[in-house]
Formats: sequence, C-alpha cells, structure tokens
Amino acid sequence: MEKYRLLFVDDEPNVLQGLKRMLFKMKDQWDMQFASGGKEALEILEKSRIQVIITDMLMPGMNGLELLKEVCSSYPKVFRVVLSGHSEHGMLVEAAKLAHQFLTKPCNADTVVETIEQALKFRQILHNEEAKRIVSRISMLPTMPVTFQRISDEMANPDYSVAAIARIVAEDSSMSANILKLVNSSFFGLINRITSPEKAIALLGADTIKSFIVNEHIFTEIKTGQIKYFNLDLLRNHTLLAARLSKTISKLIGQSKQYTDMSSIAGLLHDIGKVVLITNFNKTYKVVVEEARAQNKSIWEMEKEIIGTSHAEVGAYLLSLWGFDEEVIQAVHLHHCPNLSVDEGTSVLTSVYLGNVLEHRLVKLNENYAVRPLDDIYVGRMNLTGKMAEIENTCRKICMEVYGE
Ligand SMILES: [Fe+2]
Ligand SMILES: [Fe+2]
Repeated sequence: MEKYRLLFVDDEPNVLQGLKRMLFKMKDQWDMQFASGGKEALEILEKSRIQVIITDMLMPGMNGLELLKEVCSSYPKVFRVVLSGHSEHGMLVEAAKLAHQFLTKPCNADTVVETIEQALKFRQILHNEEAKRIVSRISMLPTMPVTFQRISDEMANPDYSVAAIARIVAEDSSMSANILKLVNSSFFGLINRITSPEKAIALLGADTIKSFIVNEHIFTEIKTGQIKYFNLDLLRNHTLLAARLSKTISKLIGQSKQYTDMSSIAGLLHDIGKVVLITNFNKTYKVVVEEARAQNKSIWEMEKEIIGTSHAEVGAYLLSLWGFDEEVIQAVHLHHCPNLSVDEGTSVLTSVYLGNVLEHRLVKLNENYAVRPLDDIYVGRMNLTGKMAEIENTCRKICMEVYGE
C-alpha cells in the first residue's frame, strides 16, 4: 500500500522534534516531511504530492493563514489542518474558512493520528461527528413529510410518470395549494401562470417539487408566532430568491441541466438548518442572533461558537438522511466555506455559494446578516473572476424585478 504523504509546518524546532518522536510509530503508513516555515512548506508542496498539511498559525515571515490561503488556491485538494496554541484565537475565525480540521497544542499522538486518519477518509458531512451529535440531541427533528416519502417511492420506479407524481401531490391539498402559490410568486419569474401540480412538475421536474415540499413542510411546522427575535418570513424570502439566483448563475456559468436543477434545489434548502436550530434551541438561538449582531459576526460563526455546529452542517445532515443528491448536500454543507471543497471545476456549490452571497449583498432587507465580501480565492479557483460582473448584473436585475428598485 502506498504511504500517505503529510507535511508538518511549525517554526519552533521543539514542536517539530516532538511531532517526529510522537509519530515515529506511523512511519510505515505515513511519509512525513517537516518544514520550519511557510516558504519551505511551499517548496515541499511543489516537489512532493502532499495530501495533508498540518500547520502552526503564528510563524514569522509567512504565517499559517497566509500559507493556508496559498495552499487553498494552488493545491485545493490538500487536506488542511491547523495546529495552534491557545493564544492564537483571533486568527482561528479566519482559519475556519480555510482549514478542514483543528488541533490544539499540546496534543497527544492518538489525537493527531485520529484526526489525520479521519482527514484522509474525509469526504462527506456524515463524518462530521459534531453535527451528528447535535442532530441526535435535537428532539424536534422535522419528520420526513409523507408526501415526500410517497414521491420518493414512486420515483424509485425507473419508469415513473409525471401524472403519478402529480396525483400524489394533488392528494395533499394544502401542500399542492402552497406549491402552486410558490411557483406563481414573483420569486420564480415565470411568464405563464401554472394552474396544476402536473404542469408544475412537467415544467420544474419532480426533484424540484420535492424540494418545495421539504421547504413548505419545515417552514409551516414551526410556530412562527413564538419566535419574536428572528424574522422567518425574511428567511423564507431569502431562500426563495437564493434558489432563483443559484439557478440563474448555474446557467450563466454553463453548467448542465442536471446541475442547474440541483442548484435551484440546494439554493432553496441551503438555510434549512437554521429553522431546525431555531425550533430546537429557541432561547439559545436568541443569544446567537444577539451576539452575531453585537460582535458583527456571521450567524453561522456564532452558531458554531455557541451551539457547537452551524445550520450548514445540520441542514446537510438532515438532507443526507432524506436521500438528497450528494452534490446538493455538499452545496448546503459548504455554502459559507466553499474553499473546503476539493472540486476542481465549478459544482452546485459554486452556484449556491454565489447565489447566497449575492442575495445578501443585493437585497439588504435583513439586518440579521452581516454582509461578507466575496471569497476571491474561491472565485479565482473556479476561474470566474472575469465573469463576476456579468453574474452580479444579471442577479441585480432579478432582485429588482422581485423587489422593485
Ligand atoms: Fe447560511
Ligand atoms: Fe443564506
């Protein structure tokens, strides 16, 4: 079996020595290299096909954050782990967008080995133990809507028909009324009015209809009247417009029809975890919202600090339980930190990441959100820097069409 290639970076010789000694037992499985700074690390990365980098944060010359940014744009497939001391807390918020895992010094061999082995296996949200733990603690996990289950069963049949799905939707009368209302709302920008579930399915596809069902279900289960500190209507409008923008962006960047449909689905459901967290951690979530405002941080950063996981992980976990496509799950999971993906070209995540950010930028209705700059590293990695003006203009037009000037 080929050995895994790891690179450890720390400016303190003692730390590197300690790691060498501690990890000596792994020498048959791991090929380990050690660098005393960012520059040396980049030289090694250029020569050896490193798979995992474990770096200190505070280093003279190029610090850990700068190194991670460079690794992220030049070697996006390398799994990035931060090994830091307690004093470096300030940098960790920034690092959270660039690193997949964190280790705190001093740490023992078992922790390092375990983290890295998990890193090497790292693929999907299901490996995220924290999200799993939180989701299992959640008492009111939304149940899978019955209509959704019935449609999924029907679609498992390779030659299912639109008519059969339409019948299932029509049987759930309040659901089908809601779906038609949604499809005909200004968020969808359809020219002709859709009058039956059958037409809606024929036009938008059964998968999109399934995402509507999940969305309606989640938003109607929550008792809006009880939540005073968070405007759920605004959240709902945000996700509807994000769905439309994600879909538009997907088309603009030349993605396949399948990706465009998935972009709309993931755009609609990207913040679904928020509703789950609000329902289950009502009082705590109030603190999350207040603190995010007071400290001018994003909601998701505050969720991580206070609850231990963010709505992105919870949403992705829920959608994985419900059998959504992996592309959709990844887009929901990484919609705040797209650089954590290892995709070489654009994916559903790309459209949803941009759709969400641009919605926040162009529609400044919701004071719950701090506006974040676009992630230049990611946009560059996806080769979209030259296309951003066109994307933004098109999205601006859509926002004006929906909300007026
Ligand atoms: Fe979000
Ligand atoms: Fe969002």
